[in-house]
Amino acid sequence: MSAGTVTDEELLARADAVAARAYAPYSRFHVGCAVLARDGRVIEGVNVENAAYPLGVCAERTAFSRAVAEGYRPGDFAVAAVTASPCGGCRQWLLEMGVERVVFRNGGRVVTMTPNELLPESFEASDLP
Ligand code: THU
Repeated sequence: MSAGTVTDEELLARADAVAARAYAPYSRFHVGCAVLARDGRVIEGVNVENAAYPLGVCAERTAFSRAVAEGYRPGDFAVAAVTASPCGGCRQWLLEMGVERVVFRNGGRVVTMTPNELLPESFEASDLP
């Protein structure tokens, strides 16, 4: 299956649906992420919080961690859809994972941006010696 079979709207709907499974008892802010891989598969993630607050993980990072554990690598992804505006740390992840674009909800709008637009002048692998 090619990545073109799932529209951005459908991918965001998948993110909306999976957000219900978030484990967010502290913030009560449920976030869902659905990533479309180039092979057509959709990998979903949710935020998972912890009583030790800083240990919580964002929805984007659970989605990409799950994908990598299943064998996907940076560059294997086409689109990421998120139910919230990605935090700064997740923007760094989105850049590293090499998605073409990110579709996300922000204040009632649906926004589409590239990782470079989300994180200009970024630090990345090519900056390392
Ligand atoms: N959160 C995400 O899952 N992704 C983001 O990009 C923004 C923030 C989560 C983290 C925390 O569980 C909750 O939203 C409130 O910050």
